[in-house]
Amino acid sequence: MRFSAAAPLSLIAALALAACGGSDPAPTAPSAATAPAAPAAPAVPAAAPGEPSPEFASLPAPYNTANYSVGARTWKLCQSCHLTAEGAGNLVGPNLHGIFGRQAATVEGFAYSPALLAEDFIWTPEQLDHWLENPRTFVPGNRMSFSGVRREADRLGVIAYLMVETGYEADAAPAEEAPAE
Ligand code: HEC
Repeated sequence: MRFSAAAPLSLIAALALAACGGSDPAPTAPSAATAPAAPAAPAVPAAAPGEPSPEFASLPAPYNTANYSVGARTWKLCQSCHLTAEGAGNLVGPNLHGIFGRQAATVEGFAYSPALLAEDFIWTPEQLDHWLENPRTFVPGNRMSFSGVRREADRLGVIAYLMVETGYEADAAPAEEAPAE
Protein backbone atom coordinates (compact mmCIF):
# COMPACT_ATOMS: atom_id res chain seq x y z
CA MET A 1 0.00 0.00 0.00
CA ARG A 2 2.92 2.32 -0.55
CA PHE A 3 1.24 4.29 -3.35
CA SER A 4 -2.17 4.80 -1.75
CA ALA A 5 -1.44 8.46 -1.07
CA ALA A 6 -0.33 9.08 -4.62
CA ALA A 7 -3.56 8.00 -6.28
CA PRO A 8 -5.67 11.05 -5.41
CA LEU A 9 -2.79 13.36 -6.36
CA SER A 10 -2.45 11.91 -9.81
CA LEU A 11 -6.18 12.08 -10.27
CA ILE A 12 -6.11 15.78 -9.48
CA ALA A 13 -3.21 16.29 -11.85
CA ALA A 14 -5.08 14.49 -14.62
CA LEU A 15 -8.15 16.61 -14.07
CA ALA A 16 -6.06 19.77 -14.10
CA LEU A 17 -4.43 18.75 -17.37
CA ALA A 18 -7.79 17.96 -18.90
CA ALA A 19 -9.08 21.36 -17.90
CA CYS A 20 -6.12 23.11 -19.45
CA GLY A 21 -6.36 20.95 -22.56
CA GLY A 22 -9.66 22.60 -23.38
CA SER A 23 -7.86 25.82 -24.23
CA ASP A 24 -5.08 24.19 -26.29
CA PRO A 25 -4.71 25.40 -29.84
CA ALA A 26 -6.20 23.21 -32.59
CA PRO A 27 -4.23 20.05 -33.31
CA THR A 28 -1.82 20.01 -36.21
CA ALA A 29 -3.63 20.32 -39.51
CA PRO A 30 -4.05 16.81 -40.98
CA SER A 31 -2.99 18.04 -44.46
CA ALA A 32 0.61 18.47 -43.28
CA ALA A 33 0.87 14.84 -42.23
CA THR A 34 -0.77 13.39 -45.32
CA ALA A 35 0.85 15.57 -48.00
CA PRO A 36 2.77 13.35 -50.48
CA ALA A 37 6.56 13.52 -50.19
CA ALA A 38 8.20 15.53 -52.95
CA PRO A 39 10.05 13.31 -55.47
CA ALA A 40 13.83 13.32 -54.94
CA ALA A 41 15.55 15.70 -57.33
CA PRO A 42 18.45 14.28 -59.40
CA ALA A 43 21.79 15.12 -57.77
CA VAL A 44 23.31 16.62 -60.92
CA PRO A 45 21.16 17.83 -63.79
CA ALA A 46 22.59 15.65 -66.53
CA ALA A 47 22.42 16.64 -70.18
CA ALA A 48 20.03 14.42 -72.09
CA PRO A 49 21.74 11.71 -74.15
CA GLY A 50 23.00 13.24 -77.35
CA GLU A 51 23.02 16.73 -75.87
CA PRO A 52 26.29 18.65 -75.31
CA SER A 53 27.42 18.53 -71.68
CA PRO A 54 28.76 21.52 -69.71
CA GLU A 55 31.79 19.41 -68.64
CA PHE A 56 33.03 19.54 -72.24
CA ALA A 57 32.11 23.14 -73.07
CA SER A 58 35.72 24.36 -73.10
CA LEU A 59 37.00 21.64 -75.47
CA PRO A 60 37.64 22.38 -79.15
CA ALA A 61 34.97 21.38 -81.68
CA PRO A 62 33.60 18.83 -82.25
CA TYR A 63 34.44 17.51 -78.76
CA ASN A 64 32.51 20.35 -77.11
CA THR A 65 29.35 18.76 -78.53
CA ALA A 66 29.97 15.42 -76.80
CA ASN A 67 27.76 14.03 -74.07
CA TYR A 68 29.37 13.34 -70.71
CA SER A 69 27.37 10.28 -69.73
CA VAL A 70 28.02 8.69 -73.12
CA GLY A 71 31.75 9.33 -72.62
CA ALA A 72 31.84 8.01 -69.08
CA ARG A 73 29.89 4.93 -70.10
CA THR A 74 32.18 4.22 -73.05
CA TRP A 75 35.24 4.70 -70.84
CA LYS A 76 34.09 1.68 -68.84
CA LEU A 77 35.24 -0.39 -71.83
CA CYS A 78 38.79 0.91 -71.32
CA GLN A 79 39.15 1.17 -67.56
CA SER A 80 40.03 -2.46 -66.92
CA CYS A 81 43.23 -1.87 -68.89
CA HIS A 82 44.02 1.85 -68.53
CA LEU A 83 44.38 4.38 -65.73
CA THR A 84 44.24 8.13 -66.36
CA ALA A 85 45.57 9.68 -63.14
CA GLU A 86 49.08 11.07 -63.25
CA GLY A 87 51.57 8.64 -61.74
CA ALA A 88 48.90 5.98 -61.19
CA GLY A 89 50.94 3.44 -63.13
CA ASN A 90 50.13 0.99 -65.88
CA LEU A 91 47.68 -1.89 -66.01
CA VAL A 92 47.41 -4.25 -68.97
CA GLY A 93 47.64 -1.05 -71.01
CA PRO A 94 49.79 2.05 -70.46
CA ASN A 95 48.72 4.98 -68.27
CA LEU A 96 46.92 7.53 -70.44
CA HIS A 97 47.66 10.68 -68.43
CA GLY A 98 48.84 13.40 -70.81
CA ILE A 99 48.21 11.18 -73.84
CA PHE A 100 47.25 14.08 -76.11
CA GLY A 101 50.29 15.72 -77.59
CA ARG A 102 52.53 12.80 -76.68
CA GLN A 103 54.55 10.60 -78.98
CA ALA A 104 52.98 7.14 -79.33
CA ALA A 105 54.40 4.30 -77.22
CA THR A 106 56.47 6.45 -74.85
CA VAL A 107 55.11 5.71 -71.35
CA GLU A 108 58.13 4.74 -69.30
CA GLY A 109 58.14 1.24 -67.92
CA PHE A 110 55.45 -0.05 -70.23
CA ALA A 111 56.33 -2.98 -72.50
CA TYR A 112 54.80 -1.90 -75.81
CA SER A 113 54.49 -4.17 -78.81
CA PRO A 114 57.23 -3.80 -81.44
CA ALA A 115 54.46 -2.66 -83.81
CA LEU A 116 53.45 0.33 -81.71
CA LEU A 117 57.08 1.11 -80.81
CA ALA A 118 57.87 1.35 -84.50
CA GLU A 119 55.22 4.04 -84.97
CA ASP A 120 56.22 7.65 -85.20
CA PHE A 121 53.26 9.89 -84.53
CA ILE A 122 51.80 12.11 -81.83
CA TRP A 123 48.45 11.31 -80.27
CA THR A 124 45.79 13.83 -81.22
CA PRO A 125 42.06 13.44 -80.68
CA GLU A 126 41.80 12.57 -84.38
CA GLN A 127 44.48 9.85 -84.17
CA LEU A 128 42.74 8.39 -81.16
CA ASP A 129 39.49 8.38 -83.10
CA HIS A 130 41.11 6.22 -85.80
CA TRP A 131 42.74 3.96 -83.21
CA LEU A 132 39.45 3.36 -81.41
CA GLU A 133 37.46 2.91 -84.58
CA ASN A 134 39.53 -0.15 -85.32
CA PRO A 135 42.57 -0.81 -83.13
CA ARG A 136 43.66 -3.73 -85.29
CA THR A 137 43.97 -1.94 -88.60
CA PHE A 138 45.22 1.42 -87.30
CA VAL A 139 48.51 -0.12 -86.14
CA PRO A 140 48.60 -3.71 -87.37
CA GLY A 141 50.31 -6.03 -84.94
CA ASN A 142 49.65 -3.93 -81.82
CA ARG A 143 48.78 -5.69 -78.58
CA MET A 144 45.67 -3.83 -77.53
CA SER A 145 43.20 -6.71 -77.62
CA PHE A 146 40.13 -4.58 -77.93
CA SER A 147 37.62 -4.72 -80.75
CA GLY A 148 37.11 -0.96 -80.91
CA VAL A 149 34.27 1.51 -80.45
CA ARG A 150 31.94 1.27 -83.43
CA ARG A 151 29.57 4.16 -82.80
CA GLU A 152 30.85 7.59 -83.69
CA ALA A 153 28.95 9.27 -80.83
CA ASP A 154 30.57 6.85 -78.37
CA ARG A 155 34.05 7.66 -79.72
CA LEU A 156 33.34 11.39 -79.60
CA GLY A 157 32.18 10.97 -76.01
CA VAL A 158 35.07 8.85 -74.80
CA ILE A 159 37.67 11.09 -76.47
CA ALA A 160 36.12 14.20 -74.87
CA TYR A 161 36.02 12.33 -71.56
CA LEU A 162 39.70 11.43 -71.93
CA MET A 163 40.60 15.01 -72.82
CA VAL A 164 39.09 16.12 -69.51
CA GLU A 165 40.46 13.19 -67.50
CA THR A 166 44.02 13.16 -68.84
CA GLY A 167 44.81 16.86 -68.66
CA TYR A 168 44.39 17.81 -72.32
CA GLU A 169 45.85 21.20 -73.17
CA ALA A 170 45.00 22.73 -76.49
CA ASP A 171 48.58 24.06 -76.84
CA ALA A 172 50.13 20.63 -76.30
CA ALA A 173 48.48 19.10 -79.33
CA PRO A 174 50.13 19.97 -82.62
CA ALA A 175 48.13 22.59 -84.43
CA GLU A 176 48.23 23.54 -88.09
CA GLU A 177 51.74 24.61 -89.05
CA ALA A 178 51.96 28.37 -88.84
CA PRO A 179 53.33 29.79 -92.08
CA ALA A 180 57.03 30.53 -91.71
CA GLU A 181 57.85 34.22 -91.68
C1 HEC B 1 42.17 -5.48 -72.91
C2 HEC B 1 42.91 -4.33 -72.51
C3 HEC B 1 42.68 -3.00 -73.19
C4 HEC B 1 41.48 -2.34 -73.40
C5 HEC B 1 40.08 -2.82 -73.05
C6 HEC B 1 41.82 -1.07 -73.99
N1 HEC B 1 43.18 -0.98 -74.15
FE1 HEC B 1 44.18 0.60 -74.89
N2 HEC B 1 45.93 -0.46 -74.83
C7 HEC B 1 46.06 -1.72 -74.32
C8 HEC B 1 47.40 -2.19 -74.56
C9 HEC B 1 47.97 -3.55 -74.14
C10 HEC B 1 48.07 -1.16 -75.23
C11 HEC B 1 49.51 -1.18 -75.76
C12 HEC B 1 49.43 -1.77 -77.17
C13 HEC B 1 50.75 -2.13 -77.77
O1 HEC B 1 51.82 -1.98 -77.14
O2 HEC B 1 50.72 -2.58 -78.93
C14 HEC B 1 47.12 -0.06 -75.36
C15 HEC B 1 47.40 1.16 -75.95
C16 HEC B 1 46.54 2.23 -75.98
C17 HEC B 1 46.89 3.57 -76.41
C18 HEC B 1 48.28 4.02 -76.90
C19 HEC B 1 49.05 4.52 -75.69
C20 HEC B 1 50.45 5.04 -75.98
O3 HEC B 1 51.15 5.30 -75.00
O4 HEC B 1 50.83 5.19 -77.13
C21 HEC B 1 45.77 4.34 -76.29
C22 HEC B 1 45.64 5.80 -76.61
C23 HEC B 1 44.71 3.47 -75.79
N3 HEC B 1 45.22 2.22 -75.62
C24 HEC B 1 43.43 3.88 -75.51
C25 HEC B 1 42.39 3.03 -75.17
C26 HEC B 1 41.02 3.43 -75.00
C27 HEC B 1 40.52 4.87 -75.12
C28 HEC B 1 40.30 2.31 -74.73
C29 HEC B 1 38.79 2.17 -74.54
C30 HEC B 1 37.94 2.71 -75.56
C31 HEC B 1 41.24 1.20 -74.65
N4 HEC B 1 42.49 1.68 -74.93
C32 HEC B 1 40.89 -0.10 -74.33
C33 HEC B 1 45.08 -2.45 -73.69
C34 HEC B 1 43.73 -2.14 -73.68
